[in-house]
Amino acid sequence: MSSVRISATRLHKTITELSKIGRQPEGGITRLTFSKADVAARTYVSNLIRQAGMSVKVDEFGNIIGRTLGTSKKRTIACGSHIDTVPNGGKLDGAYGVLSAIEAIRSIHQHGLAPNAAFQVIVFTEEEGARFGAFIGSRGFTGLLTKSAAYTLQDKNGITFEQAMRKANIKPNSTCRDYTNIESYVELHIEQGPILEREHASIGVVESIVGLGELEISVTGEAGHAGTTPMQLRRDALAGAARIVLGVGEIAREIDRAVVATVGSVAVFPGASNVIPGHAVVTVDFRDTSLHGIRLLEKKIVTFAKLLGDQYGLHVTVRKKNLTKPTKMSKSVTRIIEASSRSLGVSYRRMPSGAGHDCQNIANLTEAGMIFVPSHKGMSHVPYEYTRPKQLEAGANTLMQTLLRLAD
Ligand code: HGY
Ligand code: MN
Ligand code: MN
Repeated sequence: MSSVRISATRLHKTITELSKIGRQPEGGITRLTFSKADVAARTYVSNLIRQAGMSVKVDEFGNIIGRTLGTSKKRTIACGSHIDTVPNGGKLDGAYGVLSAIEAIRSIHQHGLAPNAAFQVIVFTEEEGARFGAFIGSRGFTGLLTKSAAYTLQDKNGITFEQAMRKANIKPNSTCRDYTNIESYVELHIEQGPILEREHASIGVVESIVGLGELEISVTGEAGHAGTTPMQLRRDALAGAARIVLGVGEIAREIDRAVVATVGSVAVFPGASNVIPGHAVVTVDFRDTSLHGIRLLEKKIVTFAKLLGDQYGLHVTVRKKNLTKPTKMSKSVTRIIEASSRSLGVSYRRMPSGAGHDCQNIANLTEAGMIFVPSHKGMSHVPYEYTRPKQLEAGANTLMQTLLRLAD
Protein backbone atom coordinates (compact mmCIF):
# COMPACT_ATOMS: atom_id res chain seq x y z
CA MET A 1 0.00 0.00 0.00
CA SER A 2 1.47 3.35 -1.01
CA SER A 3 1.37 6.43 1.23
CA VAL A 4 0.84 8.59 -1.87
CA ARG A 5 -2.42 10.52 -2.00
CA ILE A 6 -4.16 12.46 -4.79
CA SER A 7 -4.05 16.26 -4.76
CA ALA A 8 -7.46 17.14 -3.29
CA THR A 9 -7.08 20.78 -4.31
CA ARG A 10 -6.43 19.84 -7.92
CA LEU A 11 -9.32 17.34 -8.00
CA HIS A 12 -11.86 19.85 -6.69
CA LYS A 13 -10.48 22.54 -9.03
CA THR A 14 -10.91 20.34 -12.09
CA ILE A 15 -14.44 19.31 -11.01
CA THR A 16 -15.36 23.00 -10.66
CA GLU A 17 -13.72 23.95 -13.98
CA LEU A 18 -15.38 21.14 -15.96
CA SER A 19 -18.76 21.91 -14.37
CA LYS A 20 -18.65 25.40 -15.95
CA ILE A 21 -18.76 23.83 -19.44
CA GLY A 22 -22.38 23.38 -20.55
CA ARG A 23 -23.81 25.20 -17.52
CA GLN A 24 -27.54 26.02 -18.03
CA PRO A 25 -29.48 29.04 -16.73
CA GLU A 26 -31.58 26.56 -14.68
CA GLY A 27 -28.35 25.63 -12.87
CA GLY A 28 -27.75 22.19 -14.37
CA ILE A 29 -25.25 21.07 -17.00
CA THR A 30 -26.02 19.98 -20.54
CA ARG A 31 -23.21 18.42 -22.58
CA LEU A 32 -24.80 16.35 -25.35
CA THR A 33 -22.44 14.28 -27.46
CA PHE A 34 -20.51 16.28 -30.09
CA SER A 35 -22.23 19.51 -29.04
CA LYS A 36 -20.13 22.67 -28.58
CA ALA A 37 -20.11 22.03 -24.83
CA ASP A 38 -18.98 18.43 -25.35
CA VAL A 39 -16.17 19.58 -27.65
CA ALA A 40 -15.02 22.14 -25.06
CA ALA A 41 -15.14 19.49 -22.33
CA ARG A 42 -13.18 17.06 -24.53
CA THR A 43 -10.50 19.72 -25.06
CA TYR A 44 -10.35 20.43 -21.34
CA VAL A 45 -9.95 16.80 -20.24
CA SER A 46 -7.51 16.01 -23.10
CA ASN A 47 -5.23 18.79 -21.82
CA LEU A 48 -5.48 17.41 -18.29
CA ILE A 49 -4.56 13.94 -19.58
CA ARG A 50 -1.44 15.37 -21.27
CA GLN A 51 -0.49 17.28 -18.09
CA ALA A 52 -0.79 13.95 -16.24
CA GLY A 53 2.01 12.49 -18.39
CA MET A 54 -0.05 10.56 -20.88
CA SER A 55 -0.45 10.52 -24.66
CA VAL A 56 -3.94 11.32 -26.02
CA LYS A 57 -5.65 9.48 -28.87
CA VAL A 58 -9.23 9.42 -30.19
CA ASP A 59 -10.72 6.20 -31.56
CA GLU A 60 -13.36 5.75 -34.27
CA PHE A 61 -16.21 6.09 -31.71
CA GLY A 62 -14.82 9.37 -30.39
CA ASN A 63 -13.56 7.71 -27.20
CA ILE A 64 -10.62 9.69 -25.79
CA ILE A 65 -7.81 7.38 -24.67
CA GLY A 66 -4.91 8.54 -22.49
CA ARG A 67 -1.96 6.21 -21.97
CA THR A 68 1.18 6.43 -19.85
CA LEU A 69 3.83 8.10 -22.00
CA GLY A 70 6.90 6.35 -23.21
CA THR A 71 6.15 2.95 -21.87
CA SER A 72 6.54 -0.31 -23.72
CA LYS A 73 5.07 -2.16 -20.75
CA LYS A 74 2.89 -4.97 -21.95
CA ARG A 75 0.44 -4.98 -19.07
CA THR A 76 -2.24 -2.26 -19.05
CA ILE A 77 -4.53 -1.23 -16.20
CA ALA A 78 -7.42 0.98 -17.34
CA CYS A 79 -9.93 3.32 -15.70
CA GLY A 80 -12.32 6.01 -16.90
CA SER A 81 -15.94 7.04 -17.30
CA HIS A 82 -17.83 9.67 -19.35
CA ILE A 83 -18.21 13.47 -19.62
CA ASP A 84 -21.46 13.67 -21.57
CA THR A 85 -24.51 14.47 -19.45
CA VAL A 86 -28.28 14.20 -19.43
CA PRO A 87 -30.00 17.53 -20.20
CA ASN A 88 -29.68 19.89 -17.20
CA GLY A 89 -27.85 17.22 -15.23
CA GLY A 90 -25.37 17.31 -12.36
CA LYS A 91 -21.63 18.05 -12.28
CA LEU A 92 -20.49 14.66 -10.94
CA ASP A 93 -22.19 11.92 -12.99
CA GLY A 94 -19.35 10.59 -15.16
CA ALA A 95 -17.16 13.69 -14.84
CA TYR A 96 -16.08 12.80 -11.30
CA GLY A 97 -14.83 9.38 -12.44
CA VAL A 98 -12.91 10.81 -15.39
CA LEU A 99 -11.28 13.62 -13.39
CA SER A 100 -10.40 11.29 -10.50
CA ALA A 101 -8.85 8.78 -12.90
CA ILE A 102 -6.70 11.51 -14.46
CA GLU A 103 -5.76 12.85 -11.00
CA ALA A 104 -4.88 9.36 -9.69
CA ILE A 105 -2.59 8.59 -12.65
CA ARG A 106 -1.07 12.08 -12.47
CA SER A 107 -0.25 11.56 -8.77
CA ILE A 108 1.22 8.12 -9.51
CA HIS A 109 3.41 9.55 -12.27
CA GLN A 110 4.40 12.64 -10.23
CA HIS A 111 5.50 10.57 -7.25
CA GLY A 112 7.67 8.50 -9.56
CA LEU A 113 5.85 5.29 -8.67
CA ALA A 114 6.86 2.91 -11.43
CA PRO A 115 4.45 -0.01 -11.29
CA ASN A 116 4.89 -2.90 -13.68
CA ALA A 117 2.03 -1.80 -15.89
CA ALA A 118 1.02 1.13 -18.05
CA PHE A 119 -2.14 3.07 -17.15
CA GLN A 120 -4.90 3.97 -19.53
CA VAL A 121 -7.73 6.42 -18.94
CA ILE A 122 -10.74 6.19 -21.26
CA VAL A 123 -13.38 8.91 -21.70
CA PHE A 124 -16.30 7.08 -23.30
CA THR A 125 -18.52 8.79 -25.88
CA GLU A 126 -22.31 9.04 -25.42
CA GLU A 127 -22.68 7.06 -22.19
CA GLU A 128 -25.98 8.74 -21.27
CA GLY A 129 -27.62 8.20 -24.65
CA ALA A 130 -29.28 11.62 -24.51
CA ARG A 131 -28.58 12.20 -28.20
CA PHE A 132 -27.86 8.90 -30.02
CA GLY A 133 -28.45 6.04 -27.58
CA ALA A 134 -26.79 4.70 -24.42
CA PHE A 135 -23.20 3.46 -24.11
CA ILE A 136 -22.20 4.08 -27.75
CA GLY A 137 -18.52 4.56 -26.88
CA SER A 138 -18.12 1.57 -24.57
CA ARG A 139 -20.26 -0.69 -26.78
CA GLY A 140 -18.07 0.29 -29.74
CA PHE A 141 -14.87 -0.12 -27.73
CA THR A 142 -15.85 -3.69 -26.79
CA GLY A 143 -17.17 -4.72 -30.21
CA LEU A 144 -20.81 -4.79 -29.06
CA LEU A 145 -21.61 -2.11 -31.65
CA THR A 146 -19.97 -1.82 -35.08
CA LYS A 147 -18.61 1.46 -36.41
CA SER A 148 -21.10 1.42 -39.31
CA ALA A 149 -24.04 0.82 -36.97
CA ALA A 150 -22.88 3.66 -34.70
CA TYR A 151 -22.23 6.06 -37.57
CA THR A 152 -25.77 5.74 -38.94
CA LEU A 153 -27.52 6.38 -35.59
CA GLN A 154 -29.59 9.56 -35.80
CA ASP A 155 -30.53 12.15 -33.21
CA LYS A 156 -34.05 13.57 -33.00
CA ASN A 157 -33.25 16.04 -35.80
CA GLY A 158 -32.11 13.29 -38.15
CA ILE A 159 -28.41 14.18 -37.82
CA THR A 160 -26.24 11.04 -37.86
CA PHE A 161 -23.50 10.22 -35.35
CA GLU A 162 -20.95 10.48 -38.17
CA GLN A 163 -22.24 13.88 -39.37
CA ALA A 164 -22.25 15.23 -35.82
CA MET A 165 -18.72 13.96 -35.16
CA ARG A 166 -17.47 15.54 -38.38
CA LYS A 167 -19.28 18.85 -37.65
CA ALA A 168 -17.60 18.86 -34.23
CA ASN A 169 -14.29 18.42 -36.03
CA ILE A 170 -13.46 15.32 -33.97
CA LYS A 171 -10.96 13.36 -36.07
CA PRO A 172 -10.18 9.80 -34.92
CA ASN A 173 -6.40 9.22 -34.97
CA SER A 174 -6.44 5.65 -33.72
CA THR A 175 -8.63 2.61 -33.49
CA CYS A 176 -10.00 1.15 -30.28
CA ARG A 177 -8.40 -2.19 -31.18
CA ASP A 178 -5.03 -0.65 -30.28
CA TYR A 179 -6.22 -0.15 -26.71
CA THR A 180 -8.34 -3.16 -25.81
CA ASN A 181 -5.50 -5.31 -24.49
CA ILE A 182 -6.42 -4.42 -20.90
CA GLU A 183 -5.67 -6.59 -17.88
CA SER A 184 -8.29 -4.93 -15.68
CA TYR A 185 -10.56 -1.88 -15.55
CA VAL A 186 -11.91 0.14 -12.60
CA GLU A 187 -14.56 2.86 -12.79
CA LEU A 188 -15.20 5.37 -10.01
CA HIS A 189 -18.69 6.90 -10.01
CA ILE A 190 -21.24 8.52 -7.73
CA GLU A 191 -23.80 6.01 -6.47
CA GLN A 192 -26.80 7.95 -7.81
CA GLY A 193 -28.90 6.27 -5.12
CA PRO A 194 -29.48 6.57 -1.32
CA ILE A 195 -27.84 3.44 0.11
CA LEU A 196 -24.34 4.64 1.06
CA GLU A 197 -25.59 7.84 2.70
CA ARG A 198 -28.32 5.96 4.56
CA GLU A 199 -25.81 3.36 5.80
CA HIS A 200 -23.08 5.93 6.53
CA ALA A 201 -20.55 4.15 4.32
CA SER A 202 -17.94 6.14 2.38
CA ILE A 203 -17.24 3.62 -0.37
CA GLY A 204 -19.55 1.34 -2.35
CA VAL A 205 -17.91 -1.82 -3.72
CA VAL A 206 -20.13 -2.67 -6.68
CA GLU A 207 -20.88 -6.38 -7.13
CA SER A 208 -23.36 -6.20 -10.01
CA ILE A 209 -24.84 -3.70 -12.45
CA VAL A 210 -28.46 -3.71 -13.59
CA GLY A 211 -29.37 -4.64 -17.17
CA LEU A 212 -31.20 -2.04 -19.22
CA GLY A 213 -33.00 -1.66 -22.52
CA GLU A 214 -34.15 1.31 -24.59
CA LEU A 215 -37.12 1.35 -26.95
CA GLU A 216 -38.39 4.09 -29.22
CA ILE A 217 -42.16 3.69 -29.85
CA SER A 218 -43.57 5.64 -32.79
CA VAL A 219 -47.36 6.24 -32.85
CA THR A 220 -49.01 7.48 -36.04
CA GLY A 221 -52.67 8.59 -36.17
CA GLU A 222 -54.16 11.42 -38.19
CA ALA A 223 -53.61 15.13 -37.71
CA GLY A 224 -56.73 17.29 -37.91
CA HIS A 225 -58.50 20.48 -36.93
CA ALA A 226 -59.08 20.68 -33.18
CA GLY A 227 -62.37 22.50 -33.67
CA THR A 228 -64.11 20.74 -36.52
CA THR A 229 -63.13 17.08 -36.02
CA PRO A 230 -65.75 15.15 -33.96
CA MET A 231 -64.23 13.14 -31.08
CA GLN A 232 -65.45 9.80 -32.39
CA LEU A 233 -63.67 10.36 -35.75
CA ARG A 234 -60.28 11.12 -34.29
CA ARG A 235 -57.07 9.03 -34.46
CA ASP A 236 -55.14 11.05 -31.91
CA ALA A 237 -51.47 9.91 -31.76
CA LEU A 238 -50.77 11.69 -28.47
CA ALA A 239 -53.78 10.15 -26.75
CA GLY A 240 -52.41 6.77 -27.83
CA ALA A 241 -48.91 7.67 -26.62
CA ALA A 242 -50.34 8.76 -23.28
CA ARG A 243 -51.94 5.34 -22.84
CA ILE A 244 -48.56 3.76 -23.59
CA VAL A 245 -46.88 5.98 -20.97
CA LEU A 246 -49.32 4.81 -18.28
CA GLY A 247 -49.23 1.20 -19.51
CA VAL A 248 -45.42 1.01 -19.25
CA GLY A 249 -45.57 1.93 -15.55
CA GLU A 250 -48.34 -0.61 -14.87
CA ILE A 251 -46.41 -3.40 -16.61
CA ALA A 252 -43.33 -2.74 -14.48
CA ARG A 253 -45.34 -2.60 -11.24
CA GLU A 254 -47.13 -5.87 -12.09
CA ILE A 255 -43.87 -7.78 -12.72
CA ASP A 256 -41.77 -7.09 -9.65
CA ARG A 257 -40.50 -4.53 -7.16
CA ALA A 258 -36.95 -4.60 -8.53
CA VAL A 259 -38.09 -3.88 -12.07
CA VAL A 260 -38.26 -0.26 -13.29
CA ALA A 261 -39.54 1.24 -16.53
CA THR A 262 -39.58 4.92 -17.43
CA VAL A 263 -40.91 7.03 -20.27
CA GLY A 264 -38.48 9.92 -20.18
CA SER A 265 -39.50 11.77 -23.31
CA VAL A 266 -42.49 12.23 -25.63
CA ALA A 267 -42.19 14.11 -28.92
CA VAL A 268 -45.47 15.37 -30.45
CA PHE A 269 -46.07 16.42 -34.06
CA PRO A 270 -47.03 18.94 -35.24
CA GLY A 271 -47.22 20.18 -31.62
CA ALA A 272 -49.77 23.01 -31.97
CA SER A 273 -52.62 23.46 -29.46
CA ASN A 274 -55.30 23.57 -32.17
CA VAL A 275 -54.10 20.55 -34.18
CA ILE A 276 -54.92 16.95 -33.28
CA PRO A 277 -51.46 15.26 -32.99
CA GLY A 278 -50.85 13.06 -36.00
CA HIS A 279 -47.59 11.59 -34.72
CA ALA A 280 -45.91 10.96 -31.38
CA VAL A 281 -42.64 9.29 -30.38
CA VAL A 282 -42.17 7.79 -26.90
CA THR A 283 -38.84 6.61 -25.44
CA VAL A 284 -38.87 3.78 -22.89
CA ASP A 285 -36.00 2.95 -20.51
CA PHE A 286 -36.53 -0.39 -18.71
CA ARG A 287 -34.27 -2.23 -16.25
CA ASP A 288 -33.95 -5.44 -14.27
CA THR A 289 -31.25 -7.42 -12.53
CA SER A 290 -31.88 -10.51 -14.70
CA LEU A 291 -31.64 -10.88 -18.47
CA HIS A 292 -34.83 -12.96 -18.38
CA GLY A 293 -36.60 -10.06 -16.63
CA ILE A 294 -35.34 -7.58 -19.21
CA ARG A 295 -36.52 -9.70 -22.11
CA LEU A 296 -39.92 -10.28 -20.41
CA LEU A 297 -40.32 -6.53 -19.85
CA GLU A 298 -39.41 -5.76 -23.46
CA LYS A 299 -41.87 -8.35 -24.78
CA LYS A 300 -44.75 -7.11 -22.58
CA ILE A 301 -44.17 -3.46 -23.47
CA VAL A 302 -43.96 -4.13 -27.22
CA THR A 303 -47.07 -6.38 -27.19
CA PHE A 304 -49.02 -3.81 -25.15
CA ALA A 305 -48.09 -0.97 -27.53
CA LYS A 306 -49.00 -2.93 -30.67
CA LEU A 307 -52.39 -4.06 -29.21
CA LEU A 308 -53.16 -0.49 -28.23
CA GLY A 309 -52.48 0.60 -31.81
CA ASP A 310 -54.94 -2.00 -33.13
CA GLN A 311 -57.55 -0.97 -30.56
CA TYR A 312 -57.43 2.75 -31.43
CA GLY A 313 -56.68 2.58 -35.16
CA LEU A 314 -53.12 3.87 -34.70
CA HIS A 315 -50.00 2.66 -36.51
CA VAL A 316 -47.42 1.66 -33.88
CA THR A 317 -43.80 0.77 -34.68
CA VAL A 318 -41.10 -0.07 -32.13
CA ARG A 319 -37.32 0.49 -32.57
CA LYS A 320 -35.09 -1.47 -30.16
CA LYS A 321 -32.23 1.00 -29.50
CA ASN A 322 -30.19 -0.94 -26.97
CA LEU A 323 -30.21 -3.93 -24.67
CA THR A 324 -27.32 -4.07 -22.20
CA LYS A 325 -27.05 -7.22 -20.09
CA PRO A 326 -27.01 -7.23 -16.28
CA THR A 327 -23.38 -7.76 -15.30
CA LYS A 328 -21.45 -9.21 -12.38
CA MET A 329 -18.23 -7.41 -11.42
CA SER A 330 -14.90 -9.25 -11.25
CA LYS A 331 -14.43 -10.94 -7.86
CA SER A 332 -10.67 -10.31 -7.87
CA VAL A 333 -11.00 -6.60 -8.66
CA THR A 334 -13.78 -6.29 -6.07
CA ARG A 335 -11.54 -7.80 -3.39
CA ILE A 336 -8.77 -5.36 -4.29
CA ILE A 337 -11.16 -2.41 -4.00
CA GLU A 338 -12.08 -3.64 -0.51
CA ALA A 339 -8.41 -4.03 0.45
CA SER A 340 -7.73 -0.48 -0.82
CA SER A 341 -10.63 0.90 1.25
CA ARG A 342 -9.37 -0.92 4.36
CA SER A 343 -5.81 0.34 3.84
CA LEU A 344 -7.17 3.90 3.73
CA GLY A 345 -9.34 3.33 6.77
CA VAL A 346 -12.53 4.26 4.94
CA SER A 347 -15.83 2.47 5.59
CA TYR A 348 -17.21 0.46 2.69
CA ARG A 349 -19.98 -1.95 1.79
CA ARG A 350 -20.73 -4.20 -1.15
CA MET A 351 -23.75 -3.24 -3.22
CA PRO A 352 -25.55 -3.49 -6.56
CA SER A 353 -25.82 -0.66 -9.09
CA GLY A 354 -29.32 0.40 -10.24
CA ALA A 355 -27.69 2.76 -12.71
CA GLY A 356 -26.09 1.53 -15.92
CA HIS A 357 -22.41 2.19 -16.60
CA ASP A 358 -19.76 1.81 -19.31
CA CYS A 359 -18.09 -0.59 -16.88
CA GLN A 360 -20.71 -3.25 -17.59
CA ASN A 361 -19.68 -3.29 -21.24
CA ILE A 362 -15.96 -3.30 -20.44
CA ALA A 363 -16.66 -6.34 -18.25
CA ASN A 364 -17.12 -8.25 -21.54
CA LEU A 365 -13.49 -7.51 -22.34
CA THR A 366 -11.60 -7.77 -19.06
CA GLU A 367 -11.74 -8.02 -15.25
CA ALA A 368 -13.86 -4.99 -14.31
CA GLY A 369 -14.81 -3.38 -11.01
CA MET A 370 -16.64 -0.25 -9.81
CA ILE A 371 -16.23 2.06 -6.86
CA PHE A 372 -19.10 4.27 -5.64
CA VAL A 373 -19.15 7.32 -3.41
CA PRO A 374 -22.35 8.52 -1.70
CA SER A 375 -24.91 10.75 -3.45
CA HIS A 376 -26.67 13.19 -1.14
CA LYS A 377 -30.31 12.01 -0.79
CA GLY A 378 -29.59 9.62 -3.67
CA MET A 379 -30.11 12.45 -6.13
CA SER A 380 -28.64 12.34 -9.64
CA HIS A 381 -29.49 13.38 -13.21
CA VAL A 382 -30.53 16.68 -11.60
CA PRO A 383 -28.66 19.98 -11.08
CA TYR A 384 -28.35 19.52 -7.32
CA GLU A 385 -26.34 16.26 -7.53
CA TYR A 386 -23.98 16.45 -4.53
CA THR A 387 -21.26 14.45 -2.73
CA ARG A 388 -19.22 15.85 0.19
CA PRO A 389 -15.64 16.92 -0.74
CA LYS A 390 -14.06 14.49 1.75
CA GLN A 391 -16.10 11.65 0.21
CA LEU A 392 -14.96 12.65 -3.29
CA GLU A 393 -11.35 12.59 -2.09
CA ALA A 394 -11.78 9.19 -0.40
CA GLY A 395 -13.18 7.80 -3.64
CA ALA A 396 -10.30 9.13 -5.72
CA ASN A 397 -7.71 7.79 -3.24
CA THR A 398 -9.43 4.39 -3.22
CA LEU A 399 -9.27 4.38 -7.02
CA MET A 400 -5.56 5.26 -6.94
CA GLN A 401 -4.71 2.56 -4.40
CA THR A 402 -6.69 0.05 -6.44
CA LEU A 403 -4.84 0.99 -9.64
CA LEU A 404 -1.48 0.58 -7.85
CA ARG A 405 -2.46 -2.82 -6.44
CA LEU A 406 -3.71 -4.02 -9.82
CA ALA A 407 -0.48 -2.82 -11.45
CA ASP A 408 1.76 -4.59 -8.97
O1 HGY B 1 -29.00 5.93 -16.93
C1 HGY B 1 -28.08 5.47 -16.27
O2 HGY B 1 -28.25 4.56 -15.50
C2 HGY B 1 -26.71 6.07 -16.39
O3 HGY B 1 -26.66 7.20 -15.57
N1 HGY B 1 -26.40 6.41 -17.75
MN1 MN C 1 -22.84 8.00 -15.38
MN1 MN D 1 -26.06 9.20 -15.87
